[in-house]
Amino acid sequence: MKEYLVTGGTSFIASHVVKALLDLGHFEKLVNPDTSGTRNLMNSCEKSRNTVKRIVLTSSSTSVRYCYDATKSSPLNESHWSDLDYCTRFKIWYGYAKTLGEKEAWSIAAEMNLDLVVVIPSFCIGPILSPEPTSSPLILLSIIKGAGGEYTNFRGGFVHIEDVAAAQIIAMEEPKASGRIICSSSSVAHWSEIIEMLRPKYPLYPFETKCGSEEGRDMPHSLDTTKIRELGLAPFKSLAKMFDDCIKCFQDKGLL
Ligand SMILES: NC(=O)c1ccc[n+]([C@@H]2O[C@H](COP(=O)([O-])OP(=O)(O)OC[C@H]3O[C@@H](n4cnc5c(N)ncnc54)[C@H](OP(=O)(O)O)[C@@H]3O)[C@@H](O)[C@H]2O)c1
Repeated sequence: MKEYLVTGGTSFIASHVVKALLDLGHFEKLVNPDTSGTRNLMNSCEKSRNTVKRIVLTSSSTSVRYCYDATKSSPLNESHWSDLDYCTRFKIWYGYAKTLGEKEAWSIAAEMNLDLVVVIPSFCIGPILSPEPTSSPLILLSIIKGAGGEYTNFRGGFVHIEDVAAAQIIAMEEPKASGRIICSSSSVAHWSEIIEMLRPKYPLYPFETKCGSEEGRDMPHSLDTTKIRELGLAPFKSLAKMFDDCIKCFQDKGLL
């Protein structure tokens, strides 16, 4: 029987991966993430190379999309990398860290000759399995409540969390899966468009009304998802579905 080791099992993404694995009847081991990071984890995998067949790492579309020619080069695919100078210029430290982190993982994998597959989701939205929201759902909750005074001047891809979990399972199990794999619905949208879509459906919530003045995060672009679709992922769930599922979950948990 195959066993899966999922790090950060309490996180938004990993909790859905665990749920998807259990739904498929798999057992998994949960471990707390090693504070020494990717290298330590990959070192352990190297030592257990007889039993560890593959490592699946979650990166982010922020390691792909932040570059000066994003619009011209779109659709961006697995060959594209964010530009560290661009991230520095616009103080996009999350994208900077994700880009460096993913590159480091690839270099360690090459050094140790490990089978690494990297899933690259865009902004993940959908129901949360933990009692309290973290990461991306927390950002959405704040926007719906109008809690921060403004929304980030951000345009990006969005993806249903269940599609991300399904892509992670493909990355783990499909022998043909290799390299980087972008996972994002076909919709790239600005927060203003998301708010416009949601406000008439949820008129009781205030929603942020003011757009922030950040630069460099709203570049029009698109993401090529041919690779994950050819590996067998079912059609991506729509923008409306991912946000409705997330808001329903907030309501059910009394967060809204
Ligand atoms: N959510 C998104 O929209 C999105 C999109 C693309 C990529 N990603 C990537 O997917 C991964 C998981 O994201 P998520 O949204 O599921 O995150 P999340 O819900 O915020 O959870 C973060 C996880 O990372 C652990 N962690 C945080 N700081 C750590 C540290 N210094 N050392 C070790 N572990 C640490 C946390 O452990 P504790 O619970 O113990 O603190 C938790 O398990 C991240 O790499 C993120 O960049 C997320």
